[in-house]
Amino acid sequence: MIHSYIKGIGKYLPDNVVTNQDLTKYMDTSDEWIQERTGIKERRYAHRTEETTTTMAVEASTIAIERAGLTPQDIDFVVFATLSPDYYFPGCGVLLQRAMKMKEIGALDVRNQCSGFVYALSVADQFIKAGMYQNILVVGSEKHSFGLDFSTRGRNVSVIFGDGAGAVVLGATTEANRGILSTHLHSDGEMAELLAMYNPGTHANHWLEQPLADFDQAEIGEMFMSQQMLTKGQLYPFMDGPSVFKKAVVKFPEVIQEALDHNQLKVTDIDMLIPHQANLRIAQFVQQKLGLPDEKVYNNIQRYGNTTAASIPIALCEAFEEGRIQEKDLVCLAAFGSGFTWGSVLLRW
Ligand code: UT7
Repeated sequence: MIHSYIKGIGKYLPDNVVTNQDLTKYMDTSDEWIQERTGIKERRYAHRTEETTTTMAVEASTIAIERAGLTPQDIDFVVFATLSPDYYFPGCGVLLQRAMKMKEIGALDVRNQCSGFVYALSVADQFIKAGMYQNILVVGSEKHSFGLDFSTRGRNVSVIFGDGAGAVVLGATTEANRGILSTHLHSDGEMAELLAMYNPGTHANHWLEQPLADFDQAEIGEMFMSQQMLTKGQLYPFMDGPSVFKKAVVKFPEVIQEALDHNQLKVTDIDMLIPHQANLRIAQFVQQKLGLPDEKVYNNIQRYGNTTAASIPIALCEAFEEGRIQEKDLVCLAAFGSGFTWGSVLLRW
């Protein structure tokens, strides 16, 4: 039976370190508040003009492809997860294909925010299992720093997020008991607006009482992007933090247990849990609920903040580079975020 395994992995973090203290220059916050509520001490911000979501992805992908013993021309397909794309459209997948001079392969963009990498990996896994592709580049990359509200108004969101990229080459194998054992994906759109960036978007039509035909072109344009959106901060992400937190601490353990049950494994079989780095307090809550010891949970949010779709591949890469993951280890990846969406991947390294 063909299945997929991680053949190469890479990460990229911008050099620019931004401490909690640095953020106090722009907003009413404190190192103490941020560390107590989130565990974050510092994060990285991309160079404003020289780095983009795609250029960071190129850096991470180059390492992943090299470690897989391949060249960019060997890649059969790209799956790119991000919520901070270079353009509204086209997606970053094609920009990565161009920048890395890959063949005219398919490039798919995934928009599942914090669960983006888990969703992307699951999609790539299905293509490989079906025998369609041999080597798929799966990327998570974010340049949050360009789209955050650095005034006190946006402090509950802005202090959390950081920039970076992670990538894996997912390859095909027939070796038993190696690679991805299962993926589980979920969503509940009931709370879609609790963690969202509404504008620019096409949603305005949905709330209108008058038919669109009654509006002139300028008014319709205003619904997409307006000066009011700019002045009222409506072009920034919105998050109802406590609601996200409450749901996350339930769904993380649930989807991890689902993965274990599916494979007839137990929590004690997990060698390394890599939770999406949303908030250290969420990860600690999940760890406690599952009864996992510290050495079996990898966290680096303290240094990088929440890098959304990039957080799992960055953490996985770092754990691998530090020798915390060994061959045949059972590794569990789990994510929860905007949508709400959540999911898990169980794999044998
Ligand atoms: O990966 C994406 C998924 N996102 C998440 O998983 C986030 C989940 N939620 C969280 O991590 C937490 O809810 C936050 C860290 C975002 C917020 O922590 P919290 O303990 O839930 O705080 P809160 O939103 O209930 O706010 C408590 C107080 C408020 O002040 P008042 O109304 O009590 O006077 C906020 O205005 O803290 C204030 N506050 C801040 N104070 C200093 C909010 N942000 C800040 C800040 N610095 N950065």
